[in-house]
Amino acid sequence: MKEMGQERERAVNSKIHYLDFANQNLAKKKSKEPSKSSKNSCEVFPQKKPLQRKTIGAQVAALKPNIPLYCIRPASIERSTRFFLENFRTPKNKTDILYSVKSNPDATVLKNLFASGIKHFDVASVSEIKLINELFGDAVKMYFMHPIKSREAIHEAYFNHSIRDFSLDSFDELKKILEVTNGAKDLGLHLRLSIPNSHAAIDLSGKFGILPSESISLLRKTRSSAKRLGICFHVGSQCMDPVEYRNAIIITKEVVEQAKIKLDVLDVGGGFPSTYPGMTPPNLQSYFDEIFDAIHQLKLDKNCRIWCEPGRALVAEAGSLVVRVEARKKNMLYLNDGTYGGLFDAGFPGFIYPVKAIRIKGNDPLSLLTIPYGFYGPTCDSLDSMKGPFYLPENIAEGDYIEIGQLGAYSRSIRTEFNGFNKNLQIEVSDEPLASMYSEELESEKESLNRTKI
Ligand SMILES: Cc1ncc(COP(=O)(O)O)c(C=O)c1O
Repeated sequence: MKEMGQERERAVNSKIHYLDFANQNLAKKKSKEPSKSSKNSCEVFPQKKPLQRKTIGAQVAALKPNIPLYCIRPASIERSTRFFLENFRTPKNKTDILYSVKSNPDATVLKNLFASGIKHFDVASVSEIKLINELFGDAVKMYFMHPIKSREAIHEAYFNHSIRDFSLDSFDELKKILEVTNGAKDLGLHLRLSIPNSHAAIDLSGKFGILPSESISLLRKTRSSAKRLGICFHVGSQCMDPVEYRNAIIITKEVVEQAKIKLDVLDVGGGFPSTYPGMTPPNLQSYFDEIFDAIHQLKLDKNCRIWCEPGRALVAEAGSLVVRVEARKKNMLYLNDGTYGGLFDAGFPGFIYPVKAIRIKGNDPLSLLTIPYGFYGPTCDSLDSMKGPFYLPENIAEGDYIEIGQLGAYSRSIRTEFNGFNKNLQIEVSDEPLASMYSEELESEKESLNRTKI
């Protein structure tokens, strides 16, 4: 995620898509390291059986939380995973889905992904490797898909965790991997191409990847050292147009033909979107259709595997964050969480999240009339602000709660301890997300439930 944070800074001076990046100065402050001890600050309420899960409203009324409350929906994780496992497929090649751990490394989320069928994990650091190893041991496979790794990290991955797949984007990194692994002959080496991120909310093209025009000799050299040769890329996070994948695959085709090499893996990366107010992407099936249609024109060997590395699309809607309004000044709400906490993306790059007000005190109901609000976070920094607009009841007031949706991705893992505001809770809940990429699947689940009741 640090990789993404730095890429966001870069976006200030490069292309800005779909979002209003008005708070550009915020980027400078955002390069602060995420807190190392942030994981310890979250208390997880033990919940025994799935059937005992309650709705967010009931939980908030019971707990009256005075710190931010993460609400995880195991049913959403099961649904998104099933969708990927069933649909990211082609009759011609075998496919694998690698969950990108950085998007949410929470143990509850990981266990639910695993239980739903995810057995491959894209890891980017030794901490992520250790975490996945502790949770799942030999039952899963890890892939070290960070193109720039320390020698110690490569050593730990190869010798202590039997990781054989590594990404790279330079001759130096290839040399480093070969030196550290003593010229291992069992490596899967995946060359990361830098491709345009023209339709992504978060541009990831600047920091990593080799330009296709410069990749041919590295591709040949990597081929001669690798047991499995792969090409990987990232179309940018929250990619709003499936054609971006087609364009990247066409670029891949050109470099493979020019280098005259055999490809063992084509990894189309992450970037699959979630849905947010003002950012409604086409359905996920259209992304898969575009990918497999383009791949068929590549005429890959039938043994070539196709990988993807989704993060956001698997977990974003599985998590909501419930925050409390501590004060209101006109149309600005002062919350108990902000951009240094779980709302990083609401500041810079300015994501707008779906919201729902929850009132548990007083007799007046919340008004049905909604108006636009901006948010301030709890820290003393005036850059801890989120412009929104977030539409909430006109009479929302101090003591009310707000469920902020689509925060199952890129929220908990990037919290900091700035100003001492990192304490948070986590529970599992039964209600459905405020917005979903899997509405059709949800509807058919409901229909089959109704049929079994009859
Ligand atoms: C190498 C790599 N793979 C996958 C992902 C996941 O991307 P997304 O959450 O957009 O699917 C990222 C995100 O930064 C990444 O860097």
